[in-house]
Amino acid sequence: MTEIKCIGVLTSGGDAPGMNAAIRAVTRAAIANGMRVNGIFRGYKGLILDEIENFEAQHVSNIIQRGGTILKTARSEQFKTPDGMRQAYDNLMKHSIDALVVIGGDGTLTGARSFAQMFNFPIVGLPGTIDNDLYGTDTTIGYDTALNTILECVDKIRDTASSHDRLFFIEVMGRDAGFLALNGAIASGAEAAIIPEISLKKDQLTEMIKAGFRNSKNSSIVLVAESEVTGGAMGVADRVKKQYPKFDVRVSILGHLQRGGSPTAQDRILATRMGVAAIEALLEDQRNVMTGIQNDKIVFVPFAQAIKKSKPLDPNLFQIMEIVSR
Ligand code: F6P
Repeated sequence: MTEIKCIGVLTSGGDAPGMNAAIRAVTRAAIANGMRVNGIFRGYKGLILDEIENFEAQHVSNIIQRGGTILKTARSEQFKTPDGMRQAYDNLMKHSIDALVVIGGDGTLTGARSFAQMFNFPIVGLPGTIDNDLYGTDTTIGYDTALNTILECVDKIRDTASSHDRLFFIEVMGRDAGFLALNGAIASGAEAAIIPEISLKKDQLTEMIKAGFRNSKNSSIVLVAESEVTGGAMGVADRVKKQYPKFDVRVSILGHLQRGGSPTAQDRILATRMGVAAIEALLEDQRNVMTGIQNDKIVFVPFAQAIKKSKPLDPNLFQIMEIVSR
């Protein structure tokens, strides 16, 4: 068992609310266990460029409530190359860092897995992404906050949609996953959700219209997951304008709004539990795993599973939305 005296912590990929709460928990749990902590700025990019600073407990004071990430973040192409990885490894050695805790989504964990394999280096990952698209965890850090942001926006758009009797297509993030769109639709009382998981199998727009969509309502809100498969809100709206000109259509793309803001209680608690668990995992000699949560219990999921398996979307949720939106 390798003794871990010093850890490095970084955030990488798209930021997510709750990342700061995770950095705080990792730092404080490591210090409580007698380890030194190094904050690595700008993710893997900063690791390659040696943007590394010693962190004490007070470096993470007053951050639990803040969105974004105090460590900054980046997407690094260089880290995908053997040279980039070698430079990153040399910097870890230079700072006597024995293990890494990385916080991010699919790309971050994919990078961590390759690096860990190449240098036999201990890494634990925390799922930090608003997309909720990582296998092996019921939810990810930032997802709940993003969902709440979506609700706030949809509630506001509904006011104007109903005043004008309009059909609104609201595009939400999620990369290739429909979790934000589907659960956002359920929670906001939207009439429908167009999501890649279903769009791949059938033409959701045509089905919706055929089923008498909007017959009983004057205004409607449809959440559309960003994705080539759905065509995004613009793509769907263009089709409606051409094929069903009687609808008064408008589009709203929520975009990066969804990534900002103070994390919800749920995301702060999740991030804190996962941050502490990551340090426990390293102490127990767990390697190359992502902390996950299943049925309110912390679990450890091998990187290979978290990134390679696709997370299934519960088909019941889709039925539920259809029942209640009629
Ligand atoms: O993975 C998080 C996410 O916000 C996705 O939902 C979105 O597709 C992507 O990142 C946007 O990335 P960027 O901020 O680099 O444009």
